[in-house]
Amino acid sequence: VITKIKARQILDSRGIPTVEVDLYTNKGMFRASAPSGYTTGMYEAVEIRDGDKGTYLGNSVTRAVKNINEKISKALIGMDPTLQSQIDHAMIDLDKTEKKSELGANAILAVSIAACKAGAAEKEVPLCKYIADLSGETNMTLPVPAFTLISGGKHAGNHLSIQEIMILPIGASRFEEALQMGSETYHHLKAVITEKYGAHGCNVGEDGGFAPNILSFREGLDLVKEAIGRTGYDERIKIALDVAATDFCIGTKYDLHSKVPNKSGQNFKSGEDMIELYKELCVEYPIVSIEDPFDKEDWEHVKQFSGLGICQVVGDDLLMSNPQRIQRAIQESTCNALLLKVNQIGTVTEAIEVVKMAKVANWGVMTSHRSGETEDSFIADLSVGLATGQIKAGAPCRGERLAKYNQLLRIEEELGEQAVYAGQDWRSSS
Ligand code: PGA
Ligand code: ZN
Repeated sequence: VITKIKARQILDSRGIPTVEVDLYTNKGMFRASAPSGYTTGMYEAVEIRDGDKGTYLGNSVTRAVKNINEKISKALIGMDPTLQSQIDHAMIDLDKTEKKSELGANAILAVSIAACKAGAAEKEVPLCKYIADLSGETNMTLPVPAFTLISGGKHAGNHLSIQEIMILPIGASRFEEALQMGSETYHHLKAVITEKYGAHGCNVGEDGGFAPNILSFREGLDLVKEAIGRTGYDERIKIALDVAATDFCIGTKYDLHSKVPNKSGQNFKSGEDMIELYKELCVEYPIVSIEDPFDKEDWEHVKQFSGLGICQVVGDDLLMSNPQRIQRAIQESTCNALLLKVNQIGTVTEAIEVVKMAKVANWGVMTSHRSGETEDSFIADLSVGLATGQIKAGAPCRGERLAKYNQLLRIEEELGEQAVYAGQDWRSSS
């Protein structure tokens, strides 16, 4: 049974406070923490912060910590840690709000994850296997990693409007090889950028991608293409984009120069222009996936582009991991893949439910980190247990990103002969 729950405030990878929990059972202590990102949309679970400008510029989370130490612990102590759904629903009931704004989604999620780890220990099975059992998944799969190589948008100080250019080593035979391919490409890219822009072009963004001061999608894609060429992996590595277009949408137009200061005139494009641009890019480069190609409310253009069937179209800001938004997007055939951010929904149980919805609709699922991360590697086990087929956890560089990728190495090793790498089946791993 759960004997004690103790929360504290720690700092995330951006140096901003977040919640960490130690949950105790007879089997030991289980630790988890909550990540945090920029997209905090209207439909996602609410992380609560103290808002006292004099302390951590308003970002401290002592209220959320207190909610765990006083209210949540009282409700959960004595419960069996293997009853994940009951534990999560006990917190949802205690919170009573639609978006977990009373106790805080940051508080609830950290406890939910810690309980999941405790449940696995109670059953004496690896965490990924425990998650698979919770969801009824019978084909655990090592996901194809989507490594961020170039950062822009809100994640970097350069002028690039697009948020992430990623690579997917779908031609690897194992996860271990995929990580090697990602790392080698990353280091070749560093050399390519240094030759072209000098060493300062290799400064990195929040999830470890390089942030040279480039302006166009093509400039970034050319750099990545050159780096892939130098590795010799060629066709075995594909490219994915997270455009995060909501961040540069102005009215009905998209300003590709939105981050250029003191610019004279914009580089505005209509939704139709953007579709044409994506069509061209998918021909010129080995792009297999585009996340948030349009504004989060521009469902019409997402649908139009997705309907062309050129590549996977992932909904992140579009869906916010929100069941109602996902349901609507499935009904209207708006996109064809879900970006799963556990802190947008707030509990392990609800994360399992939305992944099931996406799978029933034959969508792809990409498990995702946040730009503000911690050393918690839970999403690595989650991606294997739910067989999401894809995971994005940033560059193959920086500790909080490697915490996830290194955990996937350990899982692959532990599964031994049974380990299956999603590879070519990355869009429909089970
Ligand atoms: P965020 O970005 O964590 O800053 O929201 C991640 C993403 O857009 O995929
Ligand atoms: Zn995104």
